[in-house]
Amino acid sequence: MDYQSILNIIQREFQPEPNLGKVAAYIPELSKVDPMKFGMYLYCHDDSAFEFGDSQEKFSIQSISKVFTLTIAKEVMGDELWKRVDVEPSGTPFNSLTELEREHGIPRNPFINAGSIVIADSLLSVLEDPKNDLLKFVRKLCDDDNINYDESVARSERKHGYRNKALVNYMKALGNIKNDTEDILDFYFHQCSIAMTCGQLARAFMLFANEGKHFRTGEIVIAPQSVKRINSIMQTCGFYDEAGEFSYRVGLPGKSGVGGGIVAVHPKRYSVAVWSPMLNPKGNSALGMKALEELTTLTGLSIF
Ligand code: DON
Repeated sequence: MDYQSILNIIQREFQPEPNLGKVAAYIPELSKVDPMKFGMYLYCHDDSAFEFGDSQEKFSIQSISKVFTLTIAKEVMGDELWKRVDVEPSGTPFNSLTELEREHGIPRNPFINAGSIVIADSLLSVLEDPKNDLLKFVRKLCDDDNINYDESVARSERKHGYRNKALVNYMKALGNIKNDTEDILDFYFHQCSIAMTCGQLARAFMLFANEGKHFRTGEIVIAPQSVKRINSIMQTCGFYDEAGEFSYRVGLPGKSGVGGGIVAVHPKRYSVAVWSPMLNPKGNSALGMKALEELTTLTGLSIF
């Protein structure tokens, strides 16, 4: 497969235009990004890599971080985890509060904000040094120590994250939060603030395209059974109330973030990350979705 030619076609066909969508502004620090950024990076099973545009520039991974924290929680806690968070698609926006009351404070899945806040709470209970442990894990996955929290993004979200504050307090009232709510939010806002490039993200997500093995060393980081489950949750819940649309158009498991990044994996073939900060009304990268749809169309390959 000539992936570089396919990426070149995608770069030519899909130029960033101001009317494609809006940069996330509810976290003021994120609104400073240049909306015209556009990059893509594809890492293959055979260690070859293909890229274009701003693929080596760091951006705020935001909700993509929820895959990393879920992976650690699944490893450390096993199926205990599922007593506090479900695995059903929500059909509602990522920051919705509506179904929590009906469902007694058990979030629908680990990728909506409520679910990832519960995961953050459980990691606070089991990890020595959660912020440091998370960074170490992500750095190890992509074999790159040049990955850090962006303190200004974390601070900006802490100041304006009223919905997340509501979610954690409401779940505390319903008995599904154990630790101090401020400590949980501090961890959650930091996880979302991690800055990474498309290249780093694609390499980190090779874990999910490579049966749980490290892309470079071959070390088994997580069991293939966990990869099956995490990829399944990405497929059904990775894009909130647009999960069906992404699945229909792209046909791969993936995860988005309001920083404009999307990562998707084709098990046993490749991992691909794309970044364009202009979001569609559901909070997913508008151009990113188009680029990935074109990738699976032009390659003629998806998981289906
Ligand atoms: O909690 C929030 O609202 C953000 N830190 C993350 C949301 C997000 O990335 C949703 N993804 N598309």
